[in-house]
Amino acid sequence: MTDANLLTDNPALYEARFPDATRLAGRWAEDRLRHYGAGPRVLDLGCGTGRDAAHLHRAGRRVVGADLSEAMLGHARRHHPGPAYVRADLRHFDLGQRRFDAVVCLDSALLYCHTNEELDGLLASCRRALAPGGLLLAEMRNGAFFLGRTELLDGPSVSTFDWQGVTHRSTTALRVDRAAQLLRRTRVWTADDGSPPVEQHSAWRLLFPQELRHLLGTHGFEVLALYDGPGPRTDPPWSPGDPPATTVDADRLHLVARLTRET
Ligand SMILES: C[S@@+](CC[C@H](N)C(=O)[O-])C[C@H]1O[C@@H](n2cnc3c(N)ncnc32)[C@H](O)[C@@H]1O
Repeated sequence: MTDANLLTDNPALYEARFPDATRLAGRWAEDRLRHYGAGPRVLDLGCGTGRDAAHLHRAGRRVVGADLSEAMLGHARRHHPGPAYVRADLRHFDLGQRRFDAVVCLDSALLYCHTNEELDGLLASCRRALAPGGLLLAEMRNGAFFLGRTELLDGPSVSTFDWQGVTHRSTTALRVDRAAQLLRRTRVWTADDGSPPVEQHSAWRLLFPQELRHLLGTHGFEVLALYDGPGPRTDPPWSPGDPPATTVDADRLHLVARLTRET
């Protein structure tokens, strides 16, 4: 069995597995940026295949997409042109003199900061990259969802899908690493084309709402909104005009914060 990240190594497969034909995530991000009056310069951190960055570009923004995966960046440049795409590690980045009016960080990319030091590194980097009054817009798993709930942990879960004439099957097990506050995922991919199984390990920080507020405050951000939905990955999903909930209970967190002071 090989150890790899099948989806980030194969961006076309990633888009087939997680389709977003109506660009819901990009539309949600644009709607929130407009609502909070963000200027045109946007950094999409953990931009992946580039589809959200390209949507924001088409909406008239000047976008830089940043990701650690060369495969993702190559795909983004070929298939979702418009934004500039750069390789950067969201846990600590420095894009030189470039300044942004907003940093967006979608689909739990922020939670690739596993340690407190990495979270500090991310927020210090965002602070450096943002113009005064700039926004941080993020959408991610909610650590608090797992308090008293095991429904996502009672796996493993199996799903299959067809791509380019091959049936792929993923078997996924999630567990909570309490000491590290990480949600750890082991996923085994098999395919009916005779290729060997691929085992993939991923982990996301389990961040709790009050912890997030404290971290943001420490780095000079004022939290403008923190709620569980609706958003691009909630059930039911967000539609234009939907008001944000007043709850922070379900499995997704939606965050808007403004940089209000230099620290
Ligand atoms: C779940 S995907 C999200 C992609 C995109 N934001 C979306 O919503 O479709 C996570 C992305 O984060 C990237 N990533 C993981 N760790 C990273 C890091 N330390 N720095 C920058 N990007 C990272 C992966 O390469 C992947 O493209």
